Amino acid sequence: MPALVLLGAQWGDEGKGKATDLLGGSVDYVVRYQGGNNAGHTVVVGDQKYALHLLPSGILSPGCTPVIGNGVVVDPSVLFSELSGLNERGVDTSKLLISGNAHIITPYNVTVDKVTERFLGKRKIGTTGRGIGPTYADKINRVGIRVQDLYDESILTQKVEAALDAKNQMLTKLYNRRAIAVGQVVEELLGYADKLAPYVADTVLVLNQALDDDKVVLFEGGQGTLLDIDHGTYPFVTSSNPTAGGACTGAGVGPTKISRVIGILKAYTTRVGAGPFPTELFDEDGEALRRIGGERGVTTGRDRRCGWFDAVIARYATRVNGLTDFFLTKLDVLTGWEQIPVCVAYEIDGKRVEELPYSQSDFHHAKPVYEMLPGWSEDISKAKSFSDLPKNAQAYVKALEEMSGAPISAIGVGPGRDETIEINSFL
Ligand code: GDP
Ligand code: IMO
Ligand code: MG
Repeated sequence: MPALVLLGAQWGDEGKGKATDLLGGSVDYVVRYQGGNNAGHTVVVGDQKYALHLLPSGILSPGCTPVIGNGVVVDPSVLFSELSGLNERGVDTSKLLISGNAHIITPYNVTVDKVTERFLGKRKIGTTGRGIGPTYADKINRVGIRVQDLYDESILTQKVEAALDAKNQMLTKLYNRRAIAVGQVVEELLGYADKLAPYVADTVLVLNQALDDDKVVLFEGGQGTLLDIDHGTYPFVTSSNPTAGGACTGAGVGPTKISRVIGILKAYTTRVGAGPFPTELFDEDGEALRRIGGERGVTTGRDRRCGWFDAVIARYATRVNGLTDFFLTKLDVLTGWEQIPVCVAYEIDGKRVEELPYSQSDFHHAKPVYEMLPGWSEDISKAKSFSDLPKNAQAYVKALEEMSGAPISAIGVGPGRDETIEINSFL
């Protein structure tokens, strides 16, 4: 039962799309288990570049069945525009399966996301404005709309009424906005029902049968460990569980089935949106990482905040996910620095701290303790094996591995599918 989880080890944008696509050719199913179209996964195949938001990156591998699990939140308008964009480029998307239990991002969820952020002012989270948080809030409040609800008009109307009751009070009385009409929302949602129908499936049954038949299933996380609602830098997080356990609840597969958990780890650190980030750089090094690494959001087009590698965070990701391997990405971006600082611990209120503090206030005060590692100047983008890397690049990788607590099994040296050094096979 080869079931692999592939997830972000930092604050997202580690290169999960590329890693998933790389494995997609050898796996039978690729499953998104949480999040929605807040994700932005870039995949480069030859001279073609794809930006995926909601669809699993396995959709680009012809032999692979892409699955949107029950833990995902689905905006149908985004789904269909992403599908038709791929179809126009000749990608066959007919194998896609969507869980009937996945929740729908309704237009009012998007409105609520935007108005609440605006009202938070300086305290805003910096969300992607895609309605993710409010949709998960409705799910937990038991007033969410699920994919299966689109097939019973009377139930759908009752549920939209229940969801809008309190929201319209809030929108009109608190936020000074117009009320949203139940009928309009119901009509829009019903308009998607027929188009969605061919994809809707009992994905829990499909995936468990596939595992029983020894098929290879890859669970692709969106976002990253430090954006996890439970284990991330709350409240500056997303509203789901990108960490490994989320794959079980978000796809309906038991933990005993998971054989490997791969953390995607950037050779430096980035973050989008608000929240603490100890190694963030505000100088020309940060600017250079942003420029060389192309660190601009795929979903919102925002510049990503950039900083040096943080081993405390990597160790934390190993712990909360039970990582078996790391896939280190973007090593090529670090080419050209004479010395590369790596954060090995924090200093918090005068004391050295080796592990991520559980107190958010302490984390906000954490100052990085840096160790300097020697850099390299040779172009590494053509390296095919570990021994092709310059000695200092090899030493950088080995040092990160030792500090981070799990073996580095692959190294990205460029955005393309083939710009990867494989050290240990994932399958
Ligand atoms: P994701 O959200 O984790 O899938 O990551 P994004 O796609 O948002 O951001 C990662 C960016 O880095 C994308 O533009 C990728 O094409 C690119 N990328 C991935 N791996 C590498 C690598 O090893 N080297 C370089 N230079 N770029 C990479
Ligand atoms: P991928 O899958 C980076 C961030 C947002 C914001 C916070 C909450 O491409 O790695 P949300 O809209 O989810 O309620 O926003 O989470 N965020 C991401 N940052 N990569 C992502 O996805 C992200 N998805 C959400 O910027 O700070
Ligand atoms: Mg991304």
